[in-house]
Amino acid sequence: MKKTVVGGIVAVAIAAMWVASCKKETIDPGKWQPISFNVPKGWPAPAYTFANNALTYDGFVLGRKLFYDVRLSKDSTVSCGTCHQQFAGFAQLGHDLSHGVNDLLGTRNTPGLANMAWHTSFFWDGGVNHLESQPIAPIQNPVEMALPMAEAVQRVKNANDYRTYFENAFGNDTVNSQRIFRALAQFMGAMVSADSKYDKYMRAEAGGTMTASELNGLTLFRQHCATCHKEPLMSDFSFRNNGLKPGTQNDSGRAHITRDVADMYKFKVPSLRNVAVTAPYMHDGKVKTLDDVVEHYRTGIYSSPTLDPSLATGIAITDNEKHDLVNFLKTLTDSTFIKNPLFAEPVK
Ligand code: HEC
Ligand code: HEC
Repeated sequence: MKKTVVGGIVAVAIAAMWVASCKKETIDPGKWQPISFNVPKGWPAPAYTFANNALTYDGFVLGRKLFYDVRLSKDSTVSCGTCHQQFAGFAQLGHDLSHGVNDLLGTRNTPGLANMAWHTSFFWDGGVNHLESQPIAPIQNPVEMALPMAEAVQRVKNANDYRTYFENAFGNDTVNSQRIFRALAQFMGAMVSADSKYDKYMRAEAGGTMTASELNGLTLFRQHCATCHKEPLMSDFSFRNNGLKPGTQNDSGRAHITRDVADMYKFKVPSLRNVAVTAPYMHDGKVKTLDDVVEHYRTGIYSSPTLDPSLATGIAITDNEKHDLVNFLKTLTDSTFIKNPLFAEPVK
């Protein structure tokens, strides 16, 4: 039976820039719904446009199944979702460094995932620049999922439960790494977070009324933070040294990729979306609370040759202003996104 497009869905389709095609019968027809990718009002064009990888419901659902599948790790204990937990804005709660197979410790803090389609590079050092080539790193990384890609492909091939998913998403049941990456890119690319209080305030919608403290925080944010944490994505996706004192890992950051001393200790400016739920903070997870983050910018700047000049003397704010800034950061939490069942581990 072919799925046909009906009235209500047509309206959604017209409003959307990219809309799921709806040719195939799906594995869970009862739950079928159009997956769309919309550029929220006032946002720039995304870097990832699903060109050559048309977003479909079935592609998205396959990507979601892969994202939550522990069989993609060597000992079948760790999935992408183990470290990227939805309730924590897809970061890993309570871990400063990531924990992978055999509870091995990674070298960096798990960043939250949202609005990945706008990111121009991935990882703290920007070591990967395409959403479709990103997943090979965690799958093969010895302290994350530790599975050679060829073996990951073989496992998915051998797993009977994937056959229909591949047929629905790609027209036949051929399993290869490119299809795995594309499905994961569809899932992650469709994870748009644009429904926080801040967003509603910007769109002058219901639920967007900020308190005086939050509004003052926004003003301070625009004064001291927004050059790097650029609105509306809360990052300009550049690499900067924000004055963190190098820890025992002595992570060289961007220089790890470029081998350029001018890039020492520079890291990708993280998006601050859902930041109130993604603690701990920074590439090494050394900063525990939002209060500590702001205190870092106020009194904790560590000077080194690559320190961003704008932070040379730290930011001069009062205790009250610090409080307001933290209150503003909390308005970036999008509870619709972190509770959306579409992005959750499917019930087996
Ligand atoms: C063991 C924990 C762990 C697992 C498992 C894991 N990740 Fe990650 N993820 C991380 C860490 C840590 C980083 C940052 C790595 C770095 O900067 O070097 C990261 C970074 C990312 C990023 C880049 C985010 C950004 O803002 O640059 C994406 C996208 C991502 N992971 C997706 C995935 C996918 C897809 C999978 C499964 C195939 C996965 N992760 C599995 C811990 C994990
Ligand atoms: C010069 C650019 C720059 C400025 C200005 C700046 N930041 Fe950052 N911010 C960064 C970079 C780079 C990182 C990541 C550093 C790292 O992990 O080593 C970061 C990290 C953060 C984090 C941690 C996010 C996470 O997911 O771990 C928060 C929160 C934050 N900044 C808030 C602020 C606030 C609030 C201000 C203003 C008071 C501010 N930043 C000003 C560049 C900047």
